[in-house]
Amino acid sequence: MPIDDPRNSIMKLFSLASIKIDNQKSLISLEDKNLVDVAEKLKINIPAPCLKNKRKDGCCKACLVEVDGKRSYACTTKPIAGMKVTVRTKELDRIRKESLKEFKSQVRAGASSPCQCSGSC
Ligand code: FES
Repeated sequence: MPIDDPRNSIMKLFSLASIKIDNQKSLISLEDKNLVDVAEKLKINIPAPCLKNKRKDGCCKACLVEVDGKRSYACTTKPIAGMKVTVRTKELDRIRKESLKEFKSQVRAGASSPCQCSGSC
């Protein structure tokens, strides 16, 4: 592609406003509130019971991912251009599964506050 080809500008803009999740590129916009929403566009499921049940963000720990190599909760992480997000690893899958199991057992037990962070969600 020649340097002055307009497609180069489009490609540059695309890479400036995108993130990678499990090596798949996704455009992000100002409306994207968290990594769960962006992953969903790529058909990558990140369990997020706090979001789905409108609970206080960051309670269940079931949405754990890695952002640029550091662990983070997808439900409370705002997408920023250039981020590299990892969802699928054996260790992250194991932790998410355990957290989800714990969350569900608390819900089944009828806990008045089925979350692990405080009594306020
Ligand atoms: S959905 Fe992120 S901590 Fe519960």
